[in-house]
Amino acid sequence: MITYPSIDAEAARRFACRVLLPLPQRWIHTQAVAAQAAAVARAVAPQDRALLLAAAWLHDIGYAPAAALTGFHPLDGARLAARYSWPPRLTGLIAHHSGALFVARVSGWDEQLAAFPDEASPVTDALVYADQTTAPDGRMLPADVRIAQALARHGPGSPQHGAAAHRTPYLLAAVGRVQARL
Ligand SMILES: [Fe+2]
Repeated sequence: MITYPSIDAEAARRFACRVLLPLPQRWIHTQAVAAQAAAVARAVAPQDRALLLAAAWLHDIGYAPAAALTGFHPLDGARLAARYSWPPRLTGLIAHHSGALFVARVSGWDEQLAAFPDEASPVTDALVYADQTTAPDGRMLPADVRIAQALARHGPGSPQHGAAAHRTPYLLAAVGRVQARL
């Protein structure tokens, strides 16, 4: 059995900082998502808090030029993290962050994404909360507003719109579970 060292959230921060260097706006968003994750960390078990924080730092690395292969950032990010030997729970959280599978089913990346485990846990929910209450520019805002703004940004005909009927209720339910746990 392979054993992995415990998650080092500071190492995740440094890795994300390095790969997102060409994308300052994405780094601003990422820092704010990590702050939100820290703020809701008590919604997950104490032993999973470093994992949550590391996942927040790494969730959008798939946008980085070093990662972008398919253009589907949850998949590209998970693959980049796997290449750098981040542990499976972390690559799974990156792959499945913010209901990525709903979008993958519309855009055709679902089989590749399913190669990564979806733990569907309180950590998954807390990552949804952190990401979906943080705008692209790092401002905090309610999840329903953030989701509506994202749909407006991507426009009709986008995979995000195609996935919205299933993904939006999933995201809001995850946010609700986190609020209940707090
Ligand atoms: Fe994000």
